[in-house]
Amino acid sequence: PTPAGAAGRGRDVIDIAHRGSSGSAPENTVGAMRFAVDHRASFVEIDVQRSADGKLVVMHDTTMARTTNAKEVFPTRSPWNIRDFTFAEIRQLDAGTWFSTDYAGERVPTLREIVEAVRGRAGLLLEIKAPELYPGIEAEIHKELQSIPGYLPVALRLGKFVVQSFNVDSLRIYHQIAPEVPLGILLSARPSEEVLVEASTWARQINPSYTVTDQALIQRVHELGMTISVYTPNTGQLMRQYIGLGVDGIITNYPGVLRDILGR
Ligand code: G3P
Ligand code: CA
Repeated sequence: PTPAGAAGRGRDVIDIAHRGSSGSAPENTVGAMRFAVDHRASFVEIDVQRSADGKLVVMHDTTMARTTNAKEVFPTRSPWNIRDFTFAEIRQLDAGTWFSTDYAGERVPTLREIVEAVRGRAGLLLEIKAPELYPGIEAEIHKELQSIPGYLPVALRLGKFVVQSFNVDSLRIYHQIAPEVPLGILLSARPSEEVLVEASTWARQINPSYTVTDQALIQRVHELGMTISVYTPNTGQLMRQYIGLGVDGIITNYPGVLRDILGR
């Protein structure tokens, strides 16, 4: 498509800050969410997991080694899996300095803290991360969201809350628990026609890696009545390319670059 065509098709594209504005601030922290909402991202994407004592926390990796100072604080607790630490222990960690000393003192946030940081300002694309490690987490996430006064019904009415996962079994459980919540299937490989058709009976979104996405897949997802957002184009060139192909949303570490392209 021509640049003009891309811009025309891009008018309604949803800009989704991947793990918050994770190119500009430490991923999956309140700071990364604040950066995203301050720069007017439409949605933030987060990864939800669970501590040993049942607290819902936000982190991408299942181990805390990369994005906190867990190795220094708990040197004998390799491999520093989130599920092996209590929330009180997790809260001792610094989740910002690895990214920049400007963010020293950032903590691993709870799901609730993220909701409070973004509600009313940006939508929430909540990934249930590695749910096979956390039996029952689907009901716990839904219960936690329901317990936040005034949040979920409003967010759903405004189209500002979506749950996604690579784990289809987990999404099916979520659908049983809360059929009113729109669900997205994350894909790292191209789906078969059978998978897409079946998914369209209960899922609202197909969210694949841009590397496995082309115009035929976008068209088929649309024919089946679903939307498609791709992860994680991080350059202007890639963003323009997928906007031009007709995606509905772009999940990116640099939502500011995307907003400039979209002229917002
Ligand atoms: O939202 C898409 C993206 O977050 C999926 O991949 O590994 O960054 O969680 P990952
Ligand atoms: Ca994610």
